[in-house]
Amino acid sequence: MSGVLVVDFGAQYAQLIARRVREAHVYSEIVPASITADEVRSRAPGAIFLSGGPKSVYETPAPLLDPAIYELGIPVLGICYGAQLMAMQLGGHVAHTGTSEYGRTELRREPVASDLMVNWPTTTCWMSHGDAIAAVPDGFVVTARSPGVVAAMEDPARRLYSVQFHPEVAHTERGAELLGAFLHHVAALPGTWTNTSIIEEQVAAIREQVGAERVLCALSGGVDSAVAAALVTKAVGTQLTCVFVDTGLMRLGEGDQIEATFTRQFGVELIHVKAQDRFFDALAGVIDPEVKRKVIGELFIREFEHVARELGAGDQGPRFLVQGTLYPDVIESGSGHAANIKSHHNVGGLPEDLSFELVEPLRALFKDEVRRVGEELGLPEEIVWRQPFPGPGLGVRIVGEVTRERAEILRQADHVVVDEIKRAGLYRELWQSFAVLPAVRTVGVMGDGRTYAYPIVIRAVTSDDAMTADWARLPYDVIERIANRLIREVGGVNRVALDVTSKPPGTIEWE
Ligand code: XMP
Repeated sequence: MSGVLVVDFGAQYAQLIARRVREAHVYSEIVPASITADEVRSRAPGAIFLSGGPKSVYETPAPLLDPAIYELGIPVLGICYGAQLMAMQLGGHVAHTGTSEYGRTELRREPVASDLMVNWPTTTCWMSHGDAIAAVPDGFVVTARSPGVVAAMEDPARRLYSVQFHPEVAHTERGAELLGAFLHHVAALPGTWTNTSIIEEQVAAIREQVGAERVLCALSGGVDSAVAAALVTKAVGTQLTCVFVDTGLMRLGEGDQIEATFTRQFGVELIHVKAQDRFFDALAGVIDPEVKRKVIGELFIREFEHVARELGAGDQGPRFLVQGTLYPDVIESGSGHAANIKSHHNVGGLPEDLSFELVEPLRALFKDEVRRVGEELGLPEEIVWRQPFPGPGLGVRIVGEVTRERAEILRQADHVVVDEIKRAGLYRELWQSFAVLPAVRTVGVMGDGRTYAYPIVIRAVTSDDAMTADWARLPYDVIERIANRLIREVGGVNRVALDVTSKPPGTIEWE
């Protein structure tokens, strides 16, 4: 491979390093700590990172590295836990200092040459550790210190490097420069990994995989399935058939947007299944959130299956199915071979008895890379930058029974919320912002008359990964504009509330 391996001693740390490496235009892959020197050799990476991690090198069992990896002559950069591990495994000493360093710390260069920190003044870095390197192994020189501890060590002859601080976080002032020096100078890796190269590589891989056969893709309105479909279109054009199942629970204009993009702009065959009636029928009387999700998921599969069978799937028809699996899904599945489809994925699962071979052109990409590839492929901004939307759609934001009328109220309300958030320039910085329709009605007064109608709850959150989230502190004037418009423009609404619950204890969606 022409990229680097990031050895995983703590998933979040490893992911952040892998992303930073890619931002320096070098391809990176995350591998488990159990990787052996033989496996590394067979993959022939240009450099290796040892990530930080939550453990202490003295904990049992603390994950170790196959020590033969240090002997391969491939440049290695240990970070935080990875730095201590390198020190310990090569004969240095790591000690419980008694003083933990957390946060911004001063970093002082030692008066010695350094490959990673050329002409550095005293600067600040981000530290987060309890143990520290007390004695460096033979052959290493200390190149920087932060108050009381070894902050960096280098053994240029063996191409081994370590930093106690985190160059991958933004708080480390010269972190990107240090990573660049390691990648481009020490490891002499060229920065050739770009959106264009990703697209070319994937287009070639898709052509190779599917040959002249037909390919099927379920579009959900979300960015992942859209970018995956756009890549497949570029690769095999008319061999692709897209299916968009309108459940009646989509956002305003979503179906039209998809038609316009895929049919008119890309010239793809699109089967637009208008299944709203069947979804509302199946949801009649369903109140329980889990049952609701199940009903929507199962019906989605049936609708998709129906189309697939009509097209002769498994027989004369499509044998391949496009899936928008991203790199974090692949890593989280642990094995590096995430063939299993997330049960809550946007397409709501897949028909079990139709055997498709999966085409997963986004398997190597992070979300931000997917967006950039989408832009480069010419997908409209509205699709590429759309906030995440759950597979069951508006269904999990309508508390109580989902009816056609209530779905329409929520769709209009959602549009107002999103529209005002966009006008205020906040859409991209929020993880999600939407409307929720509770199952109560309240009394109001409008003009001279009493009203008895639904409230709308505004839900807006900031988050990095949806695992945790904070409620967004929307400016009062934005909230006021949303509230006024909701009551003026959306029939059936007479009150507006704001959800100020973080996750945990709340979830982002209401059901
Ligand atoms: P919660 O509500 O659990 O949601 O905090 C976390 C993130 O996941 C999205 N979400 C879903 N996405 N199918 C999906 O594809 C689903 O069934 C589903 N349920 C929740 C939610 O919008 C948020 O971004």
